[in-house]
Amino acid sequence: MTDLVTTGPEGDLPGKPTSVSRTTLSHIMTAGDTNLLGTVHGGVIMKLVDDAAGAVAGRHSGGPAVTASMDEMAFLEPVRVGDLVHVKAQVNWTGRSSMEIGVRVLAERWNESTPATQVGSAYLVFAAVDENGKPRPVPPVIPETERDKRRYQEAQIRRTHRLARRRAIKELREQGAVGGAED
Ligand SMILES: CC(C)(COP(=O)(O)OP(=O)(O)OC[C@H]1O[C@@H](n2cnc3c(N)ncnc32)[C@H](O)[C@@H]1OP(=O)(O)O)[C@@H](O)C(=O)NCCC(=O)NCCS
Repeated sequence: MTDLVTTGPEGDLPGKPTSVSRTTLSHIMTAGDTNLLGTVHGGVIMKLVDDAAGAVAGRHSGGPAVTASMDEMAFLEPVRVGDLVHVKAQVNWTGRSSMEIGVRVLAERWNESTPATQVGSAYLVFAAVDENGKPRPVPPVIPETERDKRRYQEAQIRRTHRLARRRAIKELREQGAVGGAED
């Protein structure tokens, strides 16, 4: 099992517990949010996901942070006009200047008194930046609950895969193995 790291690589920033930056963004879907089928456009949900993750990243890192990547965005159920959508976000993992933010999207159906349904999820990497847009160190996150600890460990696996994928693609391009002009 992977060890949890609760001090930064430079060891100079105190850790912050997951709960201090965890956030929920709630929004009622309107007719302007729909696609051709009349359900909510995926891009509307992705914007809310990015907004909620950005709020968490800013709160955790104590300053500006930019979206570096969004992956594994899953849409599990359609969202409808009138639904009350809750976007729940938390820091799953921190590196030197980057943070993985995990997001769950829940919908309370406007015409049903049933518990909220999970309609989506995503993982985003945010980089904390300084006033010149250059990466700056972030406080290490301190996972608190068993669930936080599991999410931390899973995020480390995704981080390893992202780095390996980027490295492999970079090497392939440098070898010039795939020819042809760009579209
Ligand atoms: C994200 C950004 C700040 C990274 O800058 P950089 O000069 O490449 O800096 P680094 O290579 O040191 O990366 C900084 C951190 O981000 C991570 N990172 C960078 N690109 C990433 C990507 N595509 N996916 C995941 N993580 C990424 C790095 O692993 C590093 O993490 P660490 O410090 O915890 O080890 C820069 O690419 C940027 O400004 N991008 C545009 C962001 C933006 O405008 N977003 C909104 C889109 S409209």
